Amino acid sequence: MTAETTGLASGEASHTGLDRRDLLKAGVFAGAAVTLPTLRAVGAAAPAKLAASKLPKPFTVPFVRPPDAVPVAQNATTDYYVIDQIAAKAEVIPGYRSWVYSYNGTVPGPVIHAQRNRAAVVRFRNKLPATHPTLGYESWTSVHLHGSNSLPQYDGYAGDVTRPGEYKDYHYSNEETGRFIWYHDHGMHHTAENAYHGLAGMYVVHDPAEEKAIPLPQGEFDVPLMVGEAAFQPDGNLWFSIDNQNMFPSDVIMVNGRPWPVMKVKRRKYRFRLVVATVSRSFGFTLSNGMPFQVIASDGGLLPQPEPTFVLRQCAGERYEIVIDFAEVFKGVAAGARVNLMNAPTATVNVDNPNTDKVMAFEVTDEPFDTANNSVPPVLRSFDAPLTWRTEEVAASRLWLLHRSGGLWKINNTTWDDVVNSEYEQVGATIPIGSIEMWTWKNSGGGWFHPSHAHWIDAKVISRNGRPPLPYERGVKDTLFLGQNEEIKVLVKLDAPGTWMIHCHNLIHEDHDMMTQFQVVDGAGGRGDHPINAARPRSLAFEESDPIS
Ligand code: CU
Ligand code: CU
Ligand code: CU
Ligand code: CU
Repeated sequence: MTAETTGLASGEASHTGLDRRDLLKAGVFAGAAVTLPTLRAVGAAAPAKLAASKLPKPFTVPFVRPPDAVPVAQNATTDYYVIDQIAAKAEVIPGYRSWVYSYNGTVPGPVIHAQRNRAAVVRFRNKLPATHPTLGYESWTSVHLHGSNSLPQYDGYAGDVTRPGEYKDYHYSNEETGRFIWYHDHGMHHTAENAYHGLAGMYVVHDPAEEKAIPLPQGEFDVPLMVGEAAFQPDGNLWFSIDNQNMFPSDVIMVNGRPWPVMKVKRRKYRFRLVVATVSRSFGFTLSNGMPFQVIASDGGLLPQPEPTFVLRQCAGERYEIVIDFAEVFKGVAAGARVNLMNAPTATVNVDNPNTDKVMAFEVTDEPFDTANNSVPPVLRSFDAPLTWRTEEVAASRLWLLHRSGGLWKINNTTWDDVVNSEYEQVGATIPIGSIEMWTWKNSGGGWFHPSHAHWIDAKVISRNGRPPLPYERGVKDTLFLGQNEEIKVLVKLDAPGTWMIHCHNLIHEDHDMMTQFQVVDGAGGRGDHPINAARPRSLAFEESDPIS
């Protein structure tokens, strides 16, 4: 959706009645005070929902690509961007206007195209209103680039909040292998609301050598898809509630900010880069004509080889890239025919509503097309690290148990509140730099589902419930589809000192309070940069004296 911005002024926060713990809670160590997070309305009645008859019919709204981000400056080593977080009213569903939180006025935000080993600096300016227009909490933000190797102070640490009227420069080295990643809000206790209202965007680390060597679809035929979910109130604003603490009961499936869009396609192969950016919902992507498609990449870039599949399971935070050959899909069929991308049941905890089994439609045209880069070679990537790591090399094993107790979502019996109360000192693991570890992620329960994510890691999945992982899980992963009573083992190797978060990516679980952290220490016991103190946000009042490049 494109949004017209409204000139809402950034507000002043209250400076009264806060003790040190409150300040710590908001990640404020130095000076400025903030208001407490709005108490989450557990038990408060959920707002009414817009009648299903007022929602658009699936596959009637045109598909859009989000705009590409344009650097404001460039030099020999670095691209510089400025992205504003702004509130806006947008026509998300036809005939209604909804408050959204956007990056630069679009939902999703602009797509950042980075080149491997060429740095990017993104100045995120919080120009949001002091409090959220419909939910009332203070609009602090923290930007996480999910899937990148970001240093702790640029990693969107939950307590490292940028308040309305402040900005922060995030430095990304882009040294990781070519991959499809995404940026989204990670602000303390309001990640779900912020990301759901639109603070999410896509980011591609291009590896020019790889793109030259491998003739996968490019340009117009390389399409980023952010799949989200939504529900609406009778006035058109987004509906939000945490009454169901397990799953967000959305009604509408969104693709690139549009409800169930329809996309015109030509009779050739397309590369789709898929990120599931829902609050809770997971997907089982299938084509309505029953044909298979090829999975070519996962969270950390290309798979060793393409993996054909009829259904692709994907949870919140995960990325997969697929190639659909519309020459095959629409063989012998006249222009105007459609095939739909559907959502088959995968996790029984999803709340099914009338059209949540539908995602988007593809409508074939007879338009001419460029035939370059129209194949999927049998080998996509050399079998390099981390895929070469072996279990014989494991120096230590750890368990991350995701469970519920005392009405709280926990990891290894701790919550993020425990971390906050320790002044961000408590860690779930202290890991020596450079050693290969085996991590077991275990979902202790039968009634819930946890998309499980650790920052910083490039993991190799070695087993799922004691059996080999799914074929398309044999690439590099940072987020895992951890179903009911499941157990997944991965190998990781942490190669820099620092502190990073590990959490459930069901954003309601994450905010309530299913998140902890691990630290990596070097040989001298060094703990790396502090995620909060090493790079503080600054007031926009002083931005003029701090040009970005
Ligand atoms: Cu992440
Ligand atoms: Cu994420
Ligand atoms: Cu969870
Ligand atoms: Cu995270």
